[in-house]
Amino acid sequence: MTEPILSVRGVSKTYASGVHALHAVDLDINKGEIFALLGPNGAGKTTLISIICGIVTPSTGTITVGGFDAIGQPKRARRQIGLVPQELATDMFETVESTCRFSRGLFGHPQKSDHIEEVLRDLSLYDKRKSKIMELSGGMKRRVLIAKALAHEPHILFLDEPTAGVDVELRRDMWKLVHRLREKGTTIILTTHYIEEAEEMADRVGVISGGKLLVVDEKTALMKKLGKRELDIALNEPMSTIPGDLGDWELSLENEGKTLRYVFDAQAERTGIPSLLRKLADLNIGFKDLETSKSSLEDIFVDLVKEGGK
Ligand SMILES: Nc1ncnc2c1ncn2[C@@H]1O[C@H](COP(=O)(O)OP(=O)(O)O)[C@@H](O)[C@H]1O
Ligand SMILES: [Mg+2]
Repeated sequence: MTEPILSVRGVSKTYASGVHALHAVDLDINKGEIFALLGPNGAGKTTLISIICGIVTPSTGTITVGGFDAIGQPKRARRQIGLVPQELATDMFETVESTCRFSRGLFGHPQKSDHIEEVLRDLSLYDKRKSKIMELSGGMKRRVLIAKALAHEPHILFLDEPTAGVDVELRRDMWKLVHRLREKGTTIILTTHYIEEAEEMADRVGVISGGKLLVVDEKTALMKKLGKRELDIALNEPMSTIPGDLGDWELSLENEGKTLRYVFDAQAERTGIPSLLRKLADLNIGFKDLETSKSSLEDIFVDLVKEGGK
């Protein structure tokens, strides 16, 4: 394994108001990946990003960005990072180009480089470089924020809710843009409360809720687990081992052998339930009850969707 480009260890945050926004978060981000932090409003996503970017002080924990300690060497750590904030907050009377150049200057980079020009071309803003930001459409304003965040050539780009409140077309543009940035070698961390956004964009997904990072996994693995359901079969007689004849089904014994649990894919064409029940009858394994439930991961997502839909 190569060194992670970003390492978060035991980060907690209690705001002065007493709100516990984060609880002992550990997270490693790999160089060049697209990572989605998925969670409902109030989960702690912006707080975590703000701590990594040095805007909010953590109550406990350490952060290393590109080898620099974010608390001990905040300027060096911050130079590695570009941040596109959740709120559109930029000087509306400035032109696109001067906003980007100003931001580049803040990080001590020389202005003569043609990096800004490249960024503006990449984001289809080059023709608008002399326009005042207030004259641009909503989608373009968002792209200006991205250009501004990229002006100092950061290795890591944070996008806080990049598509919240934007229309479907613009959302798809944003997805394409993120993939192009990654092709250029930028590591991307985005937050979202849209599952489909995490699914569409990310290599890995972390689910955060109530200030706790609940799971971190490869997107494909996570999406697979998401469609899982459990069938609990209450047996007449407890079992000590699962008979070899039942090897075709993903089974486990729970509740001291009194429950046979079958995990199946709810989206699959065949659940495998009828054939399993026939097989149990063939083997004279009696049961008194059947109960299906969602896997706990799916429960988390259902809650997320509910919150996100508010
Ligand atoms: N500056 C602040 N002062 C006090 N509480 C805050 C502040 N910022 C956020 N919070 C609280 O911390 C929790 C997490 O918020 P936030 O990180 O913004 O979540 P998210 O970005 O996932 O919506 C929420 O309960 C929120 O009200
Ligand atoms: Mg937020």
